[in-house]
Amino acid sequence: MAPALPSPPPLFTSTSQQDQPSSSSSPEQFSPPSSILIVGSGIFGLSTAWALARRDAFTQCTITVVDRCDPSNPDAFPAPDAASVDTSRIVRADYADKAYAALGAEAQVQWRKQAQPTDLGAEGRYHESGLLLVADSGPVRVPGEIVAKSDMTGMDYVRLSWANVLSLASDNPELASSIRELPDVAAIRERLGTGGSSGSWGYINEGSGWADAAASTKWLFDRVNEAGRVTFVSGTVSSLEHRGPTVTGAKLTDGRVLSAELVVLAAGAWTGGLVDLSGQATATGQVLGYLDLTEAEQEQLNDMPVVLNLTNGLFIIPPRNRVLKVARHAYGYLNPTLPETARLPSTSSPADQPISYPLTQLSDPSLSIPQEGVDDLRRALKQMVPLPGLVDRPFSKTRLCWYSDTPTGDFLITYHPQYKGLFVATGDSGHGFKFMPVLGEKIADCIMHNCPLEFVGKWSWKPDANVVITEDGSRGGKPGLLLANELGRTN
Ligand SMILES: Cc1cc2nc3c(=O)[nH]c(=O)nc-3n(C[C@H](O)[C@H](O)[C@H](O)COP(=O)(O)OP(=O)(O)OC[C@H]3O[C@@H](n4cnc5c(N)ncnc54)[C@H](O)[C@@H]3O)c2cc1C
Ligand SMILES: *[C@@H]1O[C@H](CO)[C@@H](O)[C@H](O)[C@H]1NC(C)=O
Repeated sequence: MAPALPSPPPLFTSTSQQDQPSSSSSPEQFSPPSSILIVGSGIFGLSTAWALARRDAFTQCTITVVDRCDPSNPDAFPAPDAASVDTSRIVRADYADKAYAALGAEAQVQWRKQAQPTDLGAEGRYHESGLLLVADSGPVRVPGEIVAKSDMTGMDYVRLSWANVLSLASDNPELASSIRELPDVAAIRERLGTGGSSGSWGYINEGSGWADAAASTKWLFDRVNEAGRVTFVSGTVSSLEHRGPTVTGAKLTDGRVLSAELVVLAAGAWTGGLVDLSGQATATGQVLGYLDLTEAEQEQLNDMPVVLNLTNGLFIIPPRNRVLKVARHAYGYLNPTLPETARLPSTSSPADQPISYPLTQLSDPSLSIPQEGVDDLRRALKQMVPLPGLVDRPFSKTRLCWYSDTPTGDFLITYHPQYKGLFVATGDSGHGFKFMPVLGEKIADCIMHNCPLEFVGKWSWKPDANVVITEDGSRGGKPGLLLANELGRTN
């Protein structure tokens, strides 16, 4: 249990000022800590370690990464239930939001590198299959009408995304020609090539694709190791150590204490178990399923693009090695729990209140996905890949995967507003993976009080919202489903 504080920690005006865009927040004025402890070796934590290890400012600073799994043990890494692993993740610049679209384009430059075996995109880590974005027509909009993020429909998202990728490609004719409008059902059906589809409007971006998540995370781990600056520790953090309002390190479940001048919390959907994130981010469970294909089916689907339906959040990644993956980018399931880890005392919510917290097959091997989710994944297959015999074929594997969801879908990459020596890098909102090659650099900039201007407001600690429901125009399903209820229905 977290020790009680004699009085609520005071607000540190200096840290909130650090998030403001001002000329005074230049990297020169940053004085690096002597030690940094990063909690979590998903792509947020690992990419941060990689960036810090390469920066001159940190040559005198020890960098340690701790994770529940053992990153230095090839058999135990990556953590099998972390968000940063499994067969595939969509890599796109196709965003309704300009800042993320530009960051996605920056990352794509790295993903496309595959001349050398050590290049990120080589050895099958990246596949430029094309990405088909579709949605059903929503309310009629006046041209140029500005729609609040929270009112955005799937169609609004697709249209804005289309405009953004076209604008990003405006000085590159080759890229521009790889983006084509698909104005009707017939055009969508033709490019999809699976015999499926009925969305009313969309476009194809042949310059987007998907990455092998496990292999890419392994690639990142190898780069971090190569830098020779980072110590990996295997262990579960049970609580953060603090002296009053100053965080001094982390305590592990086996009693060890790792001290550090700066702790970077990058524990993905588990982060809320170590620090109060109420109003900032919440863990939501997302469903995915895998289907085994025959050789003939694999061949038939070889050239299909990634397809993402922004009306219902359902997406399908082209099959490889005769495995097809279907998933849903939804509001997700909430799982109110009292975690075994203890969170830092906070002024806004008592530490003994349940929070939504991941439940995975690692802690509960019998865990399956709710019937509601299975039904929706089947609907995706029926709409998008209606091959005979496929729709009713049992999934060879299903998985619940956990997002750290914020109200706007923006990441949470900022110093903690109350605790000194604590930086938070999470709130991935289900779309962080593609940024792997560039994210750590941005996080390191933020650590050095030099957050990219276009992300200053987006990534900062927000005024408290009571409930976190992600309204970024990209989610399907129903908000607020409780995992326990949904699982109960399957019995
Ligand atoms: C089903 C699914 C589909 C997705 N699809 C896409 C996509 O198509 N494109 C895309 O760009 N993004 C996608 N994402 C999002 C992307 O995968 C995530 O944004 C990203 O992987 C989050 O990384 P992370 O480092 O924050 O979290 P994680 O990878 O979950 O890492 C957190 C780490 O912290 C460790 N940890 C937790 N608690 C503790 C503790 N107490 N002590 C020690 N260690 C701890 C865990 O073991 C884990 O290794 C998807 C996510 C999911 C779940
Ligand atoms: C997208 O989802 C909507 C709503 O479920 C559906 O009407 C439409 O046909 C889907 N489009 C494709 C291409 O599957």
